[in-house]
Amino acid sequence: MTAKIATLHENQIFKSKLIGKRVFRIKLKTMFVDTHAHLYLEQFDKDIQEMMVQAQEKGVEKIYLPNIDSGSIERMLALESKYEGRCFAMMGLHPCSVKEDYERELNIVKEWLDKRPFCAIGEIGIDLYWDKTFFEEQKKAFRIQIQWAKEMKLPIVIHARESMDEIMEIVKDENDENLRGIFHCFSGHIEQAREVVELGGFLIGIGGVLTFKNSGKMMREVVESVDLEYLVLETDSPYLAPTPYRGKRNESTYIPLIASHLAALKGCSIEKIAAVTSNNSEKLFSPFV
Ligand code: NI
Repeated sequence: MTAKIATLHENQIFKSKLIGKRVFRIKLKTMFVDTHAHLYLEQFDKDIQEMMVQAQEKGVEKIYLPNIDSGSIERMLALESKYEGRCFAMMGLHPCSVKEDYERELNIVKEWLDKRPFCAIGEIGIDLYWDKTFFEEQKKAFRIQIQWAKEMKLPIVIHARESMDEIMEIVKDENDENLRGIFHCFSGHIEQAREVVELGGFLIGIGGVLTFKNSGKMMREVVESVDLEYLVLETDSPYLAPTPYRGKRNESTYIPLIASHLAALKGCSIEKIAAVTSNNSEKLFSPFV
């Protein structure tokens, strides 16, 4: 199984064809989308250009950039304009940046949302892993941003860390025909994945954790039980690099590696994974009709 995955990873967008006596490598039309990457962070300062070229060579054509807080906006928008048509910015306040001054931070988010179009509100949510001090404020900020998303008919990108129950309570309460989005880096169990699907407008983000030997077990069970129509690919770069790069910097270039693991679990081709997951994300991020 491991050898098969490695081969798929290396050759995933090429197939060999014998024409006359020569073997040609033909590029397949396989388009991947990285629905979640913080490529504007300093970890990419030195080689972003190189990484973007490599990502394109591997078929990763679109990359969605979730915001963190007021400190990341300028760099994120600069990256988006440098790679117009390939990088797309979201706007939102990350739960780990919800502190004493969260109202001021939210005002900045709202000003930007009113100023220009964004593809989504994200990343937003609740994180009880790092710090529980601002739990109440995190809940408030999450709910406020969900309400803006509904008003503006934008999808939301949810960060849930040790907070699936709290997140689901708010999302179920706010859920209506205008609410849709992605549960980024989904860490719930099968039952919670079913609840996400039942919400109606939500997709599940699958990243490097899928490739982790022990901690990836739950995510593998989830992808086996959830229809491909509800899954999207993501890296969360520079974090959570897939095996064999675990512990190193993650990058959008690794999307096909995650896709090949998903293909093995689903028993289908990597081209099908690329086509369906890209279609899922395109439908979500394209303007609401
Ligand atoms: Ni993130």
